[in-house]
Amino acid sequence: MSATSERPGDRRVAVLASRVGADEKRLFDAFDRRGVPFDHVDTRSQWFAAGRHALPWGLALNREIGQFRAAYAARCLTAAGVHVVNSTEATEVCGDKWRTTMALEAAGVATPRTALGLTPQAALAALDSIGYPAVIKPLVGSWGRLVVPLHDRAGAEGVLEYAAALSGPQSHLGYVQELIEKPGRDIRVIVVGGQVLGAVYRTGESLRTNVALGGQTRPCEVTPEIDKLSLQAAAAVGADIAGVDLIEDRDGRLLVLEVNHRVEFSGFQSALGDQVNVADHIIDHLLERA
Ligand SMILES: Nc1ncnc2c1ncn2[C@@H]1O[C@H](COP(=O)(O)OP(=O)(O)O)[C@@H](O)[C@H]1O
Ligand SMILES: [Mg+2]
Repeated sequence: MSATSERPGDRRVAVLASRVGADEKRLFDAFDRRGVPFDHVDTRSQWFAAGRHALPWGLALNREIGQFRAAYAARCLTAAGVHVVNSTEATEVCGDKWRTTMALEAAGVATPRTALGLTPQAALAALDSIGYPAVIKPLVGSWGRLVVPLHDRAGAEGVLEYAAALSGPQSHLGYVQELIEKPGRDIRVIVVGGQVLGAVYRTGESLRTNVALGGQTRPCEVTPEIDKLSLQAAAAVGADIAGVDLIEDRDGRLLVLEVNHRVEFSGFQSALGDQVNVADHIIDHLLERA
């Protein structure tokens, strides 16, 4: 988008989303309250002709929940000259746990010991090297889905046998990681435009503290270490808007678990209340990018 363009359509913001949840509603309300013209673009009805360059938006906020649809929508809109936040690259890296791990490692950001087995059998060998307890996760996934602790080799063999029986070729890649003995909580940090908005502790009944699984949130002080690590993690994956998951190990050292490109912020917002308005910060950032 050209900031100097006179075409009225250039200033409209597209919000890409098939599913309109609580966070999208918060964003829509904030756009309305601030008088920023936007269109909710339901990605399920979108198609793109190769080479077409006449779209009514200058800027797009990608809130699409489906990873493939999000990445392809970003790619198509970017090719048509729309500035998409997050970028296609960041969406692709964050949407793939192994690519995230590689980006974090390349940037020297602390993350748990992780390996990728290219077959279930190779994942078992990788686990022998990492040791138990460990955890296996789908390469593409969220809300803690299919994140499974592996306490010993016998348990791992069973889980990997199930993985081998799944049909998608991606399910046969084993993303395995040391299980961090965390103090019954992990930390979610939201970064927007190179600024940490805040942090919350997430606690839950099980290993998985995801709010989508019933995890509870409460305020967490943003220490200089949390601030620095979260900014480094968001930068490592190239995400302007990022939900950074941190975990504390037994020695209190912080490690980055993953970076979410389509951050869900209901739990964060309810814990921090009036201290911060995530939707407003996202819109401020979009307006700056415009
Ligand atoms: N290596 C690990 N050690 C301990 N807990 C973990 C580990 N990896 C993930 N978890 C827990 O599992 C949950 C989901 O993990 P995460 O990697 O963020 O995947 P998702 O994308 O599904 O949210 C989080 O609550 C996290 O604390
Ligand atoms: Mg997570």
